[in-house]
Amino acid sequence: MVQELTHPLSAETRSELDAFWMPFTANRQFKTKPRLMVSAKDMHFTTEDGRQVLDGTAGLWCVNAGHCRPKIIEAVTKQVATLDFAPTFQMGHPGPFQLAERLADMLPGDLDHVFFTNSGSEAVESALKIAIAYHRVCGQGTRQRLIGRERGYHGVNFGGISVGGISTVRKFFGGLLNGVDHLPHTHDLEHNAFSKGQPTWGSHLADDLEQIVALHDASNIAAVIVEPVAGSTGVLLPPAGYLQRLREICDKYGILLIFDEVITGFGRLGSSFAAEHFGVIPDIITVAKGITNGTIPMGAVFVRKQIYDAFMHGPDNAIELFHGYTYSGHPVACAAAMATLDIYEEEGLFHRANDLASYWEDAVHSLRGLPHVIDTRNLGIIAGIELEPIPGQPSARAFDCFVRAYEQGLLIRTTGDIIALSPPLILEKHHIDQMFSMLADILRETA
Ligand SMILES: Cc1ncc(COP(=O)(O)O)c(C=O)c1O
Repeated sequence: MVQELTHPLSAETRSELDAFWMPFTANRQFKTKPRLMVSAKDMHFTTEDGRQVLDGTAGLWCVNAGHCRPKIIEAVTKQVATLDFAPTFQMGHPGPFQLAERLADMLPGDLDHVFFTNSGSEAVESALKIAIAYHRVCGQGTRQRLIGRERGYHGVNFGGISVGGISTVRKFFGGLLNGVDHLPHTHDLEHNAFSKGQPTWGSHLADDLEQIVALHDASNIAAVIVEPVAGSTGVLLPPAGYLQRLREICDKYGILLIFDEVITGFGRLGSSFAAEHFGVIPDIITVAKGITNGTIPMGAVFVRKQIYDAFMHGPDNAIELFHGYTYSGHPVACAAAMATLDIYEEEGLFHRANDLASYWEDAVHSLRGLPHVIDTRNLGIIAGIELEPIPGQPSARAFDCFVRAYEQGLLIRTTGDIIALSPPLILEKHHIDQMFSMLADILRETA
């Protein structure tokens, strides 16, 4: 007999909340007053107590096409009943080949090969390993150093937290990877507060890469990894010209440039990928989240042709890259991704962010001047609203807004004292109106 999830949770079953060690959560606080979603459709979640909550964050930056789309449900259901699993180590099945070909057609420049993973963290880990191994197979095995950026977020595995730059994500976990440097982050309220789109100040910060090269010598540096728009740290927008400058310096010294597009990929900025939006083509792109609309876990690494080709040497029977996951190219994830891409195409969702961008921008900046707001910033369908912290209680004010918003029917995401918004791309103007009028009220109410 199939055991059903208890729904709704009764007073007795609340003690059953104890066993799940929740990720990135204040477990004890949550378990005394849980916030539980039990279903979702399009732009809304339904809570355990039957309330509708408008999704201001596409789940966790992933449900770009909205919740419970019938096409994806059908594709997943059919696939799981037809071929639930097949290995991709020395074996194959059609899903990942078809999906990779389709993704390669969408990718900018000569990025045309795809390595599948199950998450953004694994995509980052794979990208870093591929970058180091690439230099080695090219006869430049001394190129091992990795360069990340302050405030960067690249998932939670050891490579990702080493190149990442968020202290809380790093500080508990020991020595991390050797040979990592960090560029400065680009956020400075003195110069770029209340930016509409890309800030004009800050492109010079890319020049710090020259100093890192001068210190270590290019012959020791494998790759630079950045999020084109830093999401998890609270929406930091790249200054105009900054990513171009990074590309130029990487080209000058033969350093690979990796864009971590786990958040920006699949339409968030009004084009398929941020690389296209900014007109800067990296050597490697990492994605996850929106690739399957969040329905089934999946991540991927996109590499340029020259990177893939560099590995295709030696005897035909030699495994070219000793790396992979049991579930790389899982059949059900591939089916979910194919159906997701269909929806993105059929509904023009990669361009939807462009269509709504100026309405969104006006709504975001309408919060300027409200209590506690020290910055509002936007790009595509992303926004960051930075609040003045309560002295001695960092993050408390934004967290209070988060709880109030949930109770009033809006899901937002907070990081430190920054509210981040990234709703599903199917949203309509009336959702934007609702979101920002609720937020304005919440900001007025909060202490
Ligand atoms: C830029 C970036 N990279 C990597 C990750 C990690 O992805 P996952 O949580 O799927 O491992 C995230 C997650 O938010 C992300 O925003």
